[in-house]
Amino acid sequence: MTTLRTAFITLLTGIVLFTLVHTSCTSSTGKGMEALFLTDELYTDPPNFGSYPATRDQIQKMIDDVDLRNIRAHAWDLWGSMTSPGPQGLPVWETWYSGYEVFTLAGKQEVKARNIIRDFQSPKQFHHFENVTDGVIPQNLPEQITSFNRYTKSVADFIVSSGLNRAQVLDSINDSFDRAGTPISLRQIQTTQDSIDTRAIVLKPVFQFIDGFRPTVIPFWNGISPKTTTDLKNPEPHTWRQGVIVDPTRTLKPGDSALMSVNNEPARWLQVVGLEDFYAIKLTEEDVKEFSDFAATSGDDVGKGNMTDSISIYQNVKEGNYALLMAVHVTSKEINNWTWQTFWWSPYNNHPFFGADRPTSILAPWDNYNMRTAYWMVTPAGSAEGEPFVSFNPYLETNLFGKVPVKTKTGVLDSISWTGVNSNCMTCHRLAARAPGTFNTPAYQPDGFIGIGDSVFAGMTKVDFLWSVAIRPQ
Ligand code: HEC
Repeated sequence: MTTLRTAFITLLTGIVLFTLVHTSCTSSTGKGMEALFLTDELYTDPPNFGSYPATRDQIQKMIDDVDLRNIRAHAWDLWGSMTSPGPQGLPVWETWYSGYEVFTLAGKQEVKARNIIRDFQSPKQFHHFENVTDGVIPQNLPEQITSFNRYTKSVADFIVSSGLNRAQVLDSINDSFDRAGTPISLRQIQTTQDSIDTRAIVLKPVFQFIDGFRPTVIPFWNGISPKTTTDLKNPEPHTWRQGVIVDPTRTLKPGDSALMSVNNEPARWLQVVGLEDFYAIKLTEEDVKEFSDFAATSGDDVGKGNMTDSISIYQNVKEGNYALLMAVHVTSKEINNWTWQTFWWSPYNNHPFFGADRPTSILAPWDNYNMRTAYWMVTPAGSAEGEPFVSFNPYLETNLFGKVPVKTKTGVLDSISWTGVNSNCMTCHRLAARAPGTFNTPAYQPDGFIGIGDSVFAGMTKVDFLWSVAIRPQ
């Protein structure tokens, strides 16, 4: 396989997804110190669950054996752990630290008495940028202040206590690599105490708004074919041709059908599912007050009629409406390259490839999510000659597209177009690296093998697969 060195990508605003950040900081010591997060009563670590936590050797063996069956079983166990019941009726993952706490609040004030206030400000997925020039990570990330990513305590604490949430610290690490003439393969940092940290988990959740007072059609992913999407290249949620109905008023009952339209398709009889089939959050007056113009225009929200414009979104950010959890990316540091899995809501939770193997230990509503893994970039894992392994989330990657220069065997430079439906989590996250300067990072590459010594990392510091550490430090 040709080694793809760089990716020149143009990104457009894509699906509008809503992501929740709960952050709150009610107390400040004013010391301006790089404070570690103090113990708070809310935070709850991921509990043991089935095969989680696994040892590095156990996971490495599954990878070496291309043992997808056990890898998937492990991914379900991680899901079982993070969705375990925690305090105040919340799944434990809701108690984890947000990017806002890790990259903005920490160091300015101690994050002391945390409580659940849903801060709807500035969710943004890095993928969704307008007006991006070729190959360059955009300069104007308007909401870099907050992030809806979630971090368990051990990874959050390590990032904060090592100053990896500060650009200055990362820049000086990079300078020291320069001065020491460190070979490319060793230009890297860890974001966890040790190269393995089984309690280090990072998430990227995605929510969608719905009306609390009337039925809403929720389009759902059903693969890529002319029957299931109107855009075979970028099959984003607003192109999906099948849907179910959710009616928080319960006038329409689960199991009923009603004549409604999905994404402007002619009206059809669609099945009604229950609100309880989702992880759903009722918007409070406070949530609505907190919702900013910024969030409405950030390009990550799904509003009225699956529309992405700020008017449609504002129409749904109302007290009494709901935010439904539609998808979550999950990575854990049980192995030094992290484990990669992604989940999305589906009424077909028994999908033969993505859902049928879910163990019965996963309880409602979490059993309504299907899953894919990417514990390797290529098959066989770790081989520069391996075949790309594709694994993406229908909510988070379908809007991606770009061009990648390719050197053919005859040495001629060519380019191919790619879209997110050809992407691999690990390939793109392997590229998480930075050099001093704003958004001075490698360009995305969708899939294929990237070695730790790849020349794309020249002059940079690899930041342990976490894109947030490449782009969020201030
Ligand atoms: C084309 C590049 C790309 C692909 C493919 C991709 N991601 Fe990401 N991912 C990113 C970027 C950029 C961020 C944003 C970091 C931020 O906003 O702070 C991110 C954020 C995340 C985070 C939050 C933690 C962090 O700092 O990186 C997780 C977890 C994650 N992605 C998992 C996945 C999984 C699982 C997949 C595959 C199903 C995947 N990603 C596919 C680029 C990518």
